[in-house]
Amino acid sequence: MNRSTIVSPYMEFSKLHSAARFNLAASGIMNYPLSDLPVTIDRLEIDGPDAYGYEPLIARLAAKSNVAPDCVVYVNGGTSLANHLAIAGTTEPGDHALIETPGYELLDTTARFLGLEIDHFERHFEDGYRLDPRDIERQLTPRTRLIVITNLHNPSGVLADNDTLRQIGNFARSAGARVLVDEVYLDMGFERTPPSSFHLDPKIFVVTSSLTKAYGLSGLRCGWILAEPELARRIWRINDVYGATPVHAAELLSVIALDNLPKIAARAKSLLQTNRALLNSFFDSCDELDVVRPEFGTVAFPRLRSGAAERLFNLLRDKYEASIVPGSFFGAPQHFRIGVGGETEMTREALVRLGRALQELS
Ligand SMILES: Cc1ncc(COP(=O)(O)O)c(C=O)c1O
Repeated sequence: MNRSTIVSPYMEFSKLHSAARFNLAASGIMNYPLSDLPVTIDRLEIDGPDAYGYEPLIARLAAKSNVAPDCVVYVNGGTSLANHLAIAGTTEPGDHALIETPGYELLDTTARFLGLEIDHFERHFEDGYRLDPRDIERQLTPRTRLIVITNLHNPSGVLADNDTLRQIGNFARSAGARVLVDEVYLDMGFERTPPSSFHLDPKIFVVTSSLTKAYGLSGLRCGWILAEPELARRIWRINDVYGATPVHAAELLSVIALDNLPKIAARAKSLLQTNRALLNSFFDSCDELDVVRPEFGTVAFPRLRSGAAERLFNLLRDKYEASIVPGSFFGAPQHFRIGVGGETEMTREALVRLGRALQELS
């Protein structure tokens, strides 16, 4: 692998082409305004302690996930950098990794950047995007060190249950591999959110997450990794190579956000209740799509009954001022990802426009 050729097509798309007046391309809850956080300037500071982790923040993250503080690595770069550090901490260049498809491209790109050889295991539309532990077992090799899963699944939004994850963990243990679970969407289950898969077996499961998707706090870049203490120590040292010391004002803001998480979650939950109802009635009235309807979250990954989603994307952009994410970015060109974490009236109108574009194409 040549580093100079590494790009992330999805990130480029997301940064340069996904914005639209009627945006169904975003996957998170809309941004939480700073003015709604109880922040005053006297609660912020530029410099703070620069050891391994700002203790008040680590304590809150540990309490949130119900783990010991030495199992938490705070990452001042969201789940994105958390994934990078977690993969770096659990593998060596030349190791083999199994990654889900359709999937979040950055996980593949990061693994390739870190010198891993990758194979994919399929999550099938026909099977409701369920994980198939036996299929994963069949693809394990003596060099497999990591199995990579998102839960909720990006792009389909489907929840993997803990029994299935436990089975995958058992196969990983027999093969000398670990399971990385990116749980950045998991809190969108709100009070029905299952415990983190880290609790299934802390020696086998490594978990990444952040305040980005479920809370609308992407700009804080408050990410974390849950790992057994020895691995957590190693990952803190790898982080020294990248970030050394975090932005302390972001740590202080993250502490305030975590102290107000119930209120922030209530806003997200109420928004999603409304917007998911809109999405479901859109699917009810739409003949052009097949869809697995996820129980939770902001996203779904419908399949066009005919044609490629790229055409739909172009038509939406050129005629309807609207956007979705073509499934080609997830390895499934006949699908597209639709996200309903935005402002409700915008989302309602975006769905109307999407319906018109679909009719026009059919
Ligand atoms: C599965 C997954 N992981 C990580 C991220 C990035 O999260 P963060 O903003 O916390 O870096 C995304 C964003 O789209 C995602 O879909």
